[in-house]
Amino acid sequence: MASETSLEFPPGFAWGTATAAHQIEGAWNEDGKGASIWDRFSSNPDNIADRTTARVACDHYHRYRDDLDLMASLGLRHYRFSLAWPRILPDGTGAVNPAGLAFYDRLVDGMLERGIRPYATLFHWDLPVALQDIGGWTNRRTIDAFARYAEIAAQKLGDRVKDWMTHNEPWVVAFCGHLYGVHAPGLRDLRTTLATAHGILVSHGRAVAAVRAACPGARVGIVHNLEHVEPASDRVEDVAAAMRHDGAFNRWFLDPVFGRGYPGDMVGWYGADMPTIEPGDFELMAAPTDFIGINYYTRRIIAHDPAGRGPGRASLATRQVYWPWVPRADFDEWEVAPEGLYRTLLRVQRSYQPAAIYVTENGTSWPDQPGADGQVHDLLRVRYLARHAGAVHQAIADGALVRGYFAWSILDNYEWGFGFTKRFGLVHVDYETQQRTVKDSGRWYSKLATENRFALADANATR
Ligand code: FCB
Repeated sequence: MASETSLEFPPGFAWGTATAAHQIEGAWNEDGKGASIWDRFSSNPDNIADRTTARVACDHYHRYRDDLDLMASLGLRHYRFSLAWPRILPDGTGAVNPAGLAFYDRLVDGMLERGIRPYATLFHWDLPVALQDIGGWTNRRTIDAFARYAEIAAQKLGDRVKDWMTHNEPWVVAFCGHLYGVHAPGLRDLRTTLATAHGILVSHGRAVAAVRAACPGARVGIVHNLEHVEPASDRVEDVAAAMRHDGAFNRWFLDPVFGRGYPGDMVGWYGADMPTIEPGDFELMAAPTDFIGINYYTRRIIAHDPAGRGPGRASLATRQVYWPWVPRADFDEWEVAPEGLYRTLLRVQRSYQPAAIYVTENGTSWPDQPGADGQVHDLLRVRYLARHAGAVHQAIADGALVRGYFAWSILDNYEWGFGFTKRFGLVHVDYETQQRTVKDSGRWYSKLATENRFALADANATR
């Protein structure tokens, strides 16, 4: 419902926040946890912008009760978190580590005691190193191991966790980790990238079945990072370039999970670098799901450029163009483009018809610090959140079945290759003292979550 001064969301709309285990937990080798590929990748300081590791991060492993109290005090009743696979199965395949499972038991109980609904992600990038050493997602044994891990997790937590996500952002895992070399495991090879993406998508189907078997009535989905793509001009080459970017980034991951296999134009583009497709793979990828999770941060304006990014076919022969009047976040030149979220939600709804959609991540980083009054006045983030909430509202009004929204993130945290240099939190974290300070955006989001509406003026607020 819309009034002249505020936007109200449908009753029961889920407002929450999201995190990932590696980015907040710390306790990297406590209570029997095994090493993940991110523990190994960040042990080489050259791989991380500020040469840090996530060995302590937000120390959430020890402070989870306080963090859940904070969430509850802000009225945030939905929480998307991830399980660290190597905490539960230190070498990925063998013996279960009961102390690791017990942590998630306590965490889930802590949520329920506070009236917070858990949404568990099985894989948010922290692959056990032993599995990387046999080829990671390119080895079918990793896929088997993932299905077993999913079953173990769902058997243990499924009596209380009803919402499950198999993977977070397969594109990032495949491309940032295996083509651009900026994420673990730090490889640079297109064939491995596509084989990795393939293994992840197949493993998704196996995990959907495993979770459903262990937890009847579970709602299961996958999370993709999607970008709204526009050509830089109406020149034929630019339109084709934008199609390629969309193909590599969006359609490559959406089409197979909705039963369409890989998009033909991109299969042609990748040619000899295509992965091996075994009988039954596409059926697994297309396992029926209960929702799709969409992580949305930015849009891209794409032009044709033969020099592209990277060698050969990997480059896509594209280049990103920026309009000078569009504001950008303090992160990898991400344009702030809420209408891209609106278009993405409607596009997914209309072309793929998912049973439901959750915005499983959305947010922005700014270099915010407490001011003289000790508070963090992050007006830019308030405006970002308000404008994106407005886009979600409009998408719902126009027919997208969006059931919830998770802000990234409740806490400032360890931003992968950027280390601690990027702050996405609604709550500021002082990494020296581990002190948490709710930012203005945290208070704003709390009001939205509790009232299920926000004032339109907040989208243009100047102070
Ligand atoms: C997404 C990741 C999440 C965080 C945000 C900023 O790609 O899923 O872990 O890094 O970006």
